[in-house]
Amino acid sequence: MMNTYAPCLTVALALTGLLAGQSAAADWANGERIAERWCAGCHVVAPGQSRGSDMVPTFAEIGSSKRLDETGLTAFLSDPTHSRMPPLSLARSEISDLVAYIRRQAR
Ligand code: HEC
Repeated sequence: MMNTYAPCLTVALALTGLLAGQSAAADWANGERIAERWCAGCHVVAPGQSRGSDMVPTFAEIGSSKRLDETGLTAFLSDPTHSRMPPLSLARSEISDLVAYIRRQAR
């Protein structure tokens, strides 16, 4: 019996993923993947992370910052070359995904 339904479920899930990918809305889960891959070497990007530098603001701190609101964060991530950060080369969609993820970390 289950076999009759399984393919439908697969198609439904694939469609959901497709729609999510097409929508302009930021995808914080993708932001999390990017953060873990590219930012976690220096920043504590998630509450449970134990490694990361003391000298670098955590994503919870950044997410709670008034200065780094959505606009400020987007501007910074588009051009971090003035800071001690390494130059980042992020696509616009990656930036909005990261911003969505970082803002979710706000305490
Ligand atoms: C090689 C280490 C390193 C990596 C990798 C790194 N950062 Fe940073 N980041 C820093 C340091 C150091 C600071 C604090 C000093 C500064 O702002 O220059 C910082 C500060 C920041 C700030 C705050 C800027 C401000 O104006 O206060 C943001 C936002 C940020 N990082 C985002 C990210 C994101 C997103 C990534 C991953 C795509 C990332 N960083 C990867 C070292 C790093």
